[in-house]
Amino acid sequence: MRFDIITLFPELFAPFLASGVTRRAYASGQVDVRLWNPRDYADGNYRRVDDRPFGGGPGMVMMAEPLARCLVAIRAERGEPEGGQAPVVLFSPIGESLNHAAVERWSASAGGVLLCGRYEGIDQRFIDAHVNVQMSLGDFVLSGGEIAAMALLDAVARLQPGVLNDEGSHQLDSFNPALDGLLDCPHYTRPEEWAGQQVPVALMSGHHAQIERWRRDQRLVTTARHRPDLIDVARKAGRLAPADEAVLAKLG
Ligand SMILES: C[S@@+](CC[C@H](N)C(=O)[O-])C[C@H]1O[C@@H](n2cnc3c(N)ncnc32)[C@H](O)[C@@H]1O
Repeated sequence: MRFDIITLFPELFAPFLASGVTRRAYASGQVDVRLWNPRDYADGNYRRVDDRPFGGGPGMVMMAEPLARCLVAIRAERGEPEGGQAPVVLFSPIGESLNHAAVERWSASAGGVLLCGRYEGIDQRFIDAHVNVQMSLGDFVLSGGEIAAMALLDAVARLQPGVLNDEGSHQLDSFNPALDGLLDCPHYTRPEEWAGQQVPVALMSGHHAQIERWRRDQRLVTTARHRPDLIDVARKAGRLAPADEAVLAKLG
């Protein structure tokens, strides 16, 4: 898959693409990332990409024209046929919050163009003409869309085959439909006792079925405590067995 990122700060992506899981996905070519700076498509000595908002008020607005030229260059480099254009995603508080289902959809896609806003945002005429999807990282305001783009790329990268050191590990992560969308269970490692606290006995038993039951119980308990809405979803989908309901009933 290929992601073309439009950003005024391409340098922010260098360490991100040079480390850990995202480095492996990027280096293997499974997630092809190309960076585009709208400043390279702006006019004049100052290569201006922003201007004051009509109607007054604080801050600056990203101009439509450098973005439009940048997008033309991206589409030309992608060699896109008419009607086969990659979707343009704008990171914005307006969009739907990124979640696991969206990440799974993107990880199975051919990619897209990710537009990182800055300042007060982007001239609405560019958004109306070219943006297909708006995506938010949550109900708060970032200084720019770059961190949101990295969040999407990171989450997509770790779902690509062979990118994680342990292939199966993402299948045990929170929100996975294969584990009924529950949150992850607690994890422990050596030593067996730390600061007066023992590792739960079930995990030391060496008994596979007992360990799996303990993990399932803990997923249920953690989810019921922190995200009861996810328990409701699993229940409505008929994903909770009588043994699961018995665990939840004990929580009161
Ligand atoms: C300072 S913000 C602009 C905020 C905008 N004036 C507002 O109140 O919604 C600059 C850029 O950061 C990005 N951004 C800010 N918050 C975001 C969020 N919650 N999710 C995704 N992107 C965000 C967007 O690309 C936005 O254009």
